[in-house]
Amino acid sequence: MRPRGYLEVGVNDGRSLTLSRVPTIAIDPEFCITSEVSCDVRLVKATSDDFFARPGCVDHLPGGVIDFGFIDGMHLSEFAYRDFMNVERLSTWTSVIVFDDMLPRSAPEAARDRYTKFWAGDVYKASLALQRLRPDLVCIPVDTSPTGMLLVLGANAADTTLRSAYDGLLAEFTAPDPQAVPTEVLQRTSSADPEKVVASPVWADLVAAREAGAPRDPAVYEPMRSLRGTGPVVPVVAPEPVRLRDHKPPARVPARPPASRKRASPRAEAVGRRSALRRRTRKLLRRIADRL
Ligand SMILES: C[S@@+](CC[C@H](N)C(=O)[O-])C[C@H]1O[C@@H](n2cnc3c(N)ncnc32)[C@H](O)[C@@H]1O
Repeated sequence: MRPRGYLEVGVNDGRSLTLSRVPTIAIDPEFCITSEVSCDVRLVKATSDDFFARPGCVDHLPGGVIDFGFIDGMHLSEFAYRDFMNVERLSTWTSVIVFDDMLPRSAPEAARDRYTKFWAGDVYKASLALQRLRPDLVCIPVDTSPTGMLLVLGANAADTTLRSAYDGLLAEFTAPDPQAVPTEVLQRTSSADPEKVVASPVWADLVAAREAGAPRDPAVYEPMRSLRGTGPVVPVVAPEPVRLRDHKPPARVPARPPASRKRASPRAEAVGRRSALRRRTRKLLRRIADRL
């Protein structure tokens, strides 16, 4: 993708940030970077709402535009709507916006009140809202581990549909746990195979259009839509979520039965599994960035 500028909401220990090689803005009120970073980064210690309220907030990026935006901050739907609205108003039609954690595998993983190790929260609702309210956008859920992504193409900085609908969306979609996650999300029936997404010719066409300063041409990004549903359909029974230690689940979710067999080192196993999954997600992000 060779973006001119990258913006990341939610930095944590900086593992995704290590992939960037272009001027970058990274926002997190509580970042704790533990890896080496190899880009010209403006690291912002603030909430995304506070950051986006600042005039000229993306001036650090070439052209004052977000070519590649990664939304991975607070995992609650209202934050995801706002992060998207803010990123989109600072994007162009050739920009690429990716949300993380849009395909929770179970209601516990989608809980607003976190109690599992892999936590997607209810940000998947932003995907449902965009698909209903913004048919002009190409929204592709991508089948990544552990909790999926959403790729959004065709940004329109002038669009105010989501802003106008925001209060209604909160009233309609915000619900106490447990969340009623739609089967389509749990089973990933519309998701795309990540390999096919990365291999798409759309990336080269987007770069060419961006470099030529071409006016909006939906024919450039629309072909990506055909990749919806190319990922595997997941069985209805989601894997048992790994719970946080010493954290009581909400009352309405049945507690996990005691383990029937003793395992050598469950904590080490879980940490290893988590690192491997994160490595795979980061690898995919890097491959998308390489294509742009
Ligand atoms: C899942 S982690 C981000 C991981 C990172 N993107 C990566 O892939 O390595 C989520 C981060 O969002 C941050 N966060 C929470 N609320 C936020 C907010 N309102 N604005 C920006 N970041 C927020 C948290 O501090 C946390 O570090």
